[in-house]
This record gives sequence, structure tokens and C-alpha cells, in this order.
Amino acid sequence: MFGSVLLAGSRLPLVRRAVSGVPLTRKVVDRFVAGETVQDAVEAVRRLTGAGLAVTIDHLGEETRDAGAAAQTADAYVLMLAALRELELGDRAEVSVKLSAVGQALGADGDKIALDNARRICEAAHDAGAGVTLDMEDHTTVDSTLGILRTLRGDFPGTGVAIQSYLFRSEADCRDLSYEGSRVRLVKGAYAEPASVAHRDKNEVDKAYVRCLRILMAGKGHPMVATHDDRLISITETLADRFGRALGDYEYQMLYGIRTDKQQALAGAGHTMRVYIPYGDDWYGYFMRRLAERPANVAFFLRALGGK
Ligand code: FDA
Repeated sequence: MFGSVLLAGSRLPLVRRAVSGVPLTRKVVDRFVAGETVQDAVEAVRRLTGAGLAVTIDHLGEETRDAGAAAQTADAYVLMLAALRELELGDRAEVSVKLSAVGQALGADGDKIALDNARRICEAAHDAGAGVTLDMEDHTTVDSTLGILRTLRGDFPGTGVAIQSYLFRSEADCRDLSYEGSRVRLVKGAYAEPASVAHRDKNEVDKAYVRCLRILMAGKGHPMVATHDDRLISITETLADRFGRALGDYEYQMLYGIRTDKQQALAGAGHTMRVYIPYGDDWYGYFMRRLAERPANVAFFLRALGGK
């Protein structure tokens, strides 16, 4: 409930100005964001891969309303992927892309612009030996995102996508995406969605996650289990046993700065543990979703503002 109020408020320009304008916000943001520049992102990649973790990098930004800005976001990915190429990390590195940041929200031509920009990113990723996964945003974008995924996979078959368990449609989407070579990142979902399309009760979202997880683990694709939830991680292990999946036939993913001890423990046990690393100056939407997920994060934010 508190989370949805925060998510709704986060879309108001007034709230955005107020939060962004507080000098200490940046310090708090740094807990969840690797920094503003490509160098900051590369530094985080070096540190985390050096510690045995895999990474996926997100250039922050979303809901671009301008074709020039959408192209610039794609340029930023191309630049970052060139830096990644030097590190020769192979499939230990990939990038995550929000299609709304590369043009999806630009009216009638949005899908085509987003597809062209995403294709450019996939080409640069291919040259760097890295993969690409499409993030999933609010429910109005799901059909468009899955359509663009289908087209991209024609040339870049390793392209993955996030599916949100809170949406009623997601079990069917998981079934459609359970084929060989498919890469699905299963998440609970982080947007304020209406009760007509999504479970809003936390318990129901968790139960839906387990149903989706079962479909993916029983299927032929590569499940990417993106959660910080211990119960879901232990259910994943049970399902891996049941469906004969070895280490490496599925992977875990968590967000930068969240449950770092658990990240290390899973990697230490031999799992592929991929950390989602956001970087860039357009951190506001991402940051507010992290606050909304956990009231304790709001307390942390308020304490920092109070100088503690
Ligand atoms: P849950 O929120 O129940 O948290 C379980 C436990 O994890 C908590 O008790 C706490 O210990 C810890 N935790 C969780 N969130 C925390 C936070 N913000 N700060 C500190 N501790 C926290 N969503 C989306 O809609 N589209 C997308 O494309 C993606 N992409 C994505 C990629 C990756 C790699 C991850 C891990 C997550 C996403 N998400 C996402 C976000 C996702 O939908 C979800 O909001 C968060 O992962 C939180 O849900 P959990 O599954 O962790 O469970």
C-alpha cells in the first residue's frame, strides 16, 4: 500500500524535483547505482566480476519522449559495450535495456524506433561477446516488448526478456517463452499496476512467481531467477533437482547493492549469480522503485537526510 503511494507519487514532476534537489540524495542513490559515467560502470564490473559474479549493465533512463534522446541512449550503450569488449568477459557480461528509453514511447513510430535502436545495441553486444536482455516496464508495453523481442531474436537468438509474475498474463507468456534457447528473467514486478491486470497482494504475487518458475524450470529455455527472496531461491533449488537442471542450466540475478552477502554465497556455491548494475544520471525512476519495494529503504533515505 505504502509502496503504491510512493510509486504513484514518483510520477509527479513536483515530487521528482523535490527528491532530486536534495543534496544528500546522491549519497543515498549511490547505494543502488554504480555511478554516472561509463568509467564508473566499468569499475563496478571489474570489482564484481573479480569477485566471481556475472553482471548485466543498465544505462539508466526511461520513457524518452524525444527521438534524439532515444538515439543518444543507444549511443551510450554502444560506447559502454566497446569498453566492455576490452575486458573480454564473454557471457559473464550482458546489458539490460528498457525499450522506453530507446523510443518505444514515441507514439505511432515508437516500436520501429525502439527496434532500430535495440538492434544497434544488439550488434555492439554481439561484437563484445555480450548478451542483451530487455527489461519489462508497465503492462501497457508488454505486447510491444514481446513483439520487438521476437524480431530481434531473428538475428540475435540469445536476446532475453524480463517477465513479471504479478501480471495475470505471465503464466501464458512463460509457456510461450519456454522453448530451447529462450532466456527469461523472472521478476515479481516493480510498477504500480491496476487490479484488472495484476495481483496486488504480495502473497498472490509470490504464488504466481512459483507457478511461472515451475513452467520455466520444466521448459527448455534458460531461466534467470531474479529475486532476493530466500523462499523463492530454495524453491528454485527444489525445482532444479526435480527437472534435472545442473548448475549453469539456470542462473540467479539480483540488483546492485541489495543482499550482497547472498550474492557472494550463491556464487561461492557454484551458481551463476548475475548482478544488475545501473549507471547514469537519470536515476530517479529506478531509485523510487527501490524505495517503494521496501519501507526500510525509505527510513534509510530519511536518516541520511537527517545527517545520520
Ligand atoms: P521481495 O520484494 O519480496 O524482497 C525479498 C527480500 O529481498 C526482502 O525481504 C529484502 O530482504 C530484499 N529486498 C528486496 N528489495 C529490496 C530493496 N529494494 N532494498 C533492499 N532489500 C530488498 N522489475 C520489473 O518490473 N521489470 C524488470 O525488468 C525488472 N528487472 C529486474 C532485474 C533484476 C536482476 C532484478 C533482481 C529485479 C528486477 N526487477 C524488475 C525488480 C523486481 O520486479 C522486484 O521489484 C525486486 O526484485 C524486488 O522483489 P524480490 O523478488 O526481491 O522480492
